[in-house]
Amino acid sequence: MKNLLKIIAPLVLVFLGGCYYDQEGILYPEGNCTAPLSPSFNTDILPLLNTRCNNCHSGAYASANIKLDSYAEVIKYVNNGSLMGSINHTGEYSPMPKNSGKMPSCEIQKIQNWITSGSLNN
Ligand code: HEC
Repeated sequence: MKNLLKIIAPLVLVFLGGCYYDQEGILYPEGNCTAPLSPSFNTDILPLLNTRCNNCHSGAYASANIKLDSYAEVIKYVNNGSLMGSINHTGEYSPMPKNSGKMPSCEIQKIQNWITSGSLNN
């Protein structure tokens, strides 16, 4: 009986540990998301725009003729303020991504950090 407990006790602990992590994932869905202080355009920002925006903002039929698939295009909307305005849902600009909620705050932070660190073409 004692031996059986020795076998079961660690299993129970492992099982409970698993549950704990699952719950943490639900409570803090963005807990694993860290925004680098100086994100790179090509590694961090462009893939994000491709995922969140470029089903509408690329190609010959880009929405509002706004393309977000190259540095040369994206920097225009950084400089006129509409990129962050639309992402932050400030009210001055059309809220983006269109017809869906705000992007996760850590993704917004990533784009903001890229701009704050000089919006480099890197
Ligand atoms: C489902 C399609 C769709 C998606 C996804 C989308 N947009 Fe748009 N976007 C539009 C349309 C359509 C407009 C024209 C204005 C309007 O209809 O609201 C627009 C307008 C804009 C404007 C101009 C806003 C203004 O008021 O001047 C910016 C900047 C913009 N989008 C950025 C983004 C960014 C950044 C993303 C991703 C985070 C994004 N969009 C995702 C469809 C989309």
